[in-house]
This record gives sequence, structure tokens and C-alpha cells, in this order.
Amino acid sequence: MAPSSARALRILALLLSLSSSAGFHLAAPSSHAPRRERRAGSISADASKRGELQVRLLGIGAAAPEKRVPNSELEELVDTSDEWIAQRTGISCRHLLAPEEGLSDLATSAVKDALEQAGVEAADVDLVIMATSSPDDLFGDAAGVARSVGATGAVAFDLTAACSGFLFGINTASQFLHNGAYETAVVIGADALSRWVDWSDRNTCVLFGDGAGAVVLQRAAEGEAAGVLGFEMHSNGAGREDLNLPYDGDTRELASIATVTTGKYTPIAMNGKEVYKFATTCVPKVLNEALENAELTVDDVDWLLMHQANIRIMETVAKKLKIPMDKVLTNLAEYGNTSAGSIPLALNEAVREGKVKKGDVIACAGFGAGLSWGSAILRWG
Ligand code: UT7
Repeated sequence: MAPSSARALRILALLLSLSSSAGFHLAAPSSHAPRRERRAGSISADASKRGELQVRLLGIGAAAPEKRVPNSELEELVDTSDEWIAQRTGISCRHLLAPEEGLSDLATSAVKDALEQAGVEAADVDLVIMATSSPDDLFGDAAGVARSVGATGAVAFDLTAACSGFLFGINTASQFLHNGAYETAVVIGADALSRWVDWSDRNTCVLFGDGAGAVVLQRAAEGEAAGVLGFEMHSNGAGREDLNLPYDGDTRELASIATVTTGKYTPIAMNGKEVYKFATTCVPKVLNEALENAELTVDDVDWLLMHQANIRIMETVAKKLKIPMDKVLTNLAEYGNTSAGSIPLALNEAVREGKVKKGDVIACAGFGAGLSWGSAILRWG
């Protein structure tokens, strides 16, 4: 068999094994059907593991564009103020990609730093997952990033789950490592939503920034402490109307043959109040679900790390969980909402500052468009 066919078959077999073992299922987008009963840890033959995945999180890196735009500068664009943005969101600045920069450049830089911190050679990476909704190439950026860092033996693909993407990527990659299919994975969260906001809409343009982060994961050896202690993921397409970036191509007649469209997207539209309600309701729940799957309580949590969207969301979630704010990791003030990039950007800072240490337990939650939301209880190092 040609090597390429063999490789394709191997990937197909792995995807099939993932879909059956992880219990993933497709639901009608507007379904309100109750969730199928399942434990997050059901992939393990050993039910006592209850969500534990035998992986280790070994290294992290992140990158943001140099161009830094403080709130005050946005006053030139829309009817807003530094005071409004800071008070309502906790954001002070954001970093924006320049026209000559690519999202893949940020991702490449983040992966290189993560590999260096992990002490892992790029050639040893088996799997690269890039979570993004704003790639340089709609066909996917992961393979290009893998090539740029020298991970030429890896299978690489993009994953789209908006601001939940990084978390979903960690949970997805961890399945492949846990079930023994792969040894080493890199999960990237990267977005450049500056490309897709309407810069004349003050409801959204003040919120977003660009950035990327990456984590290196490896299958844990027998007896080594697990790095994913429990997890949970949800989505509900009925909430799509509250946050979207829809395709809106221009109509084009192909002579008398057919009418097609030429690609174009409508800028991000968000019902901020609904998304706020969704986040403050669903995020505490999904964190509790993952803690339960991990057989842990909030007392076991060293750090709470949420998607960096709004400091008031983080405060409300922390309060509901009775976790003090000094355990909440945030760098929202500096980067704004970087979508799939936000969790690894904040984690990178906390690890490199020495705040998050080897063995620390991080309760992590992503949420956003889809609507989608998920959590993972991670042990660093
Ligand atoms: O990553 C995806 C997840 N996204 C989120 O988690 C976002 C969740 N939502 C939020 O964070 C908040 O809803 C926002 C920060 C987006 C908005 O805060 P809010 O407290 O819900 O404000 P609002 O939308 O109710 O607007 C209050 C007022 C309105 O004026 P009126 O109608 O009361 O006169 C808005 O027009 O503030 C006005 N406003 C602004 N004023 C100055 C909205 N945006 C701005 C602005 N500057 N940039």
C-alpha cells in the first residue's frame, strides 16, 4: 500500500476510535433535548478514573502582536471611553495583527516557546491541533504551523469552537494520548478577531484582541500523575443567534449555468447581555461537572482560569464557586478577548511568572460562540 494511503487509513481508524470511545455525537443544531447520560470519564475501562486522562502538560508558550492599542485610542473610532470599557469589561488594551503579520506567525512562535519549555523536539510531535475561528487559510493553519516549527511527522488539523476551542482542543488531544494512539501533542489556541469585527460597532470592537498560545502534552507513563483530572463539554446551536460570524457571500451568476456566491463574512454580531447570562450560568455548572468527574471539590483547586472575556464574568463565576479572586488567573486587561487564544495566553503568563507551579490544579473553562462551553481540571507539569 502507498505510504499516503496507509497514513490516511491510520488517521481514519483513529478518528473512528475517538468518536466511539469518547462518546461524541452529533445533535440537531437547535436541539433542546436533554443530554445523554454519560460520565466524562467513560472512555476509560477503569471506571474509577472518572475522567482522568493519562497525559502530562509539559510546556506552554504564547505570542501577541506588537501593536498595542489602549482603550483611549478607540475613542477616535467609536463613541466610547476608557472608563466605560474598563468598568464594564476590565479591558485596558488589546494587541492587533498588522497587515503583514499572519495568525500562523503568532502560533508558530507560541509553539516554539512551548516546545522549548517542555524540552520536546519538534520532530517528536505526533499531533498538532490548532483551535481557531480566524485562520490565515480557511482550509486550516495547523499543517502550516506544524511545518514551520519542524513537526513534519505530525498529523495536524484545525478545530473550530470559537472561544471554547482551546479547551475543546486540550480535551480532544488528550483522548488520543490517553488511548495510546499518539505520544506527544501540541494544542494551539489562536485567533485574530480584529479581522472580523465591525470597527464602527462599539458593542463589539472594544472587546477583542489578537493572540495565540500553545501547550505541549505527552502521554503520561504508568504511575505518573495525570494532567487532565476531569472534563466536560457542551454545545447548544440554539444560541447561535446570540453570537455569530456568518457567511454572507455575494451572489454571482455563472452565465446560464448556475448561481453561486463569492466568499465574504458578515462581521461579528453579539447579543452581549444574553452571552453574559449564558456565561455566568453555564460556566459555574460546567466547572462543577468537571470537578465531580475528577472527584475533587473547589478546595482542591489552586487556580481558576476562564476564557478571558469580561472580568465581571470571572468575578461572578468565582463568587458562585466560592473561589477567592486571588486564585483567578487573568491578563484580560492587557490583551482583551483573544477568543481561542485567551486561556493559553493567560496560562503562559502565570506559568512563566512562577505563579502556577508543577503539580498545581487549575480549574479551566472556555465558553463562547456555538454556543459552546467546556471545562477541564488540569494538573500542571
Ligand atoms: O468571547 C465570547 C464571549 N463574549 C462574552 O462573554 C461577552 C459577554 N457580554 C459582556 O461582556 C457584556 O454584555 C458587554 C461588555 C458586551 C456589554 O456590557 P453590558 O453591561 O451588558 O452593557 P450593555 O450592552 O447593556 O450596554 C449598556 C449601555 C448601552 O447604552 P444604553 O442603551 O443604556 O444607552 C450601550 O449602548 O452601554 C452602551 N455601550 C457602550 N457605551 C460606551 C455599549 N458599548 C459601549 C461602548 N462604549 N463600547
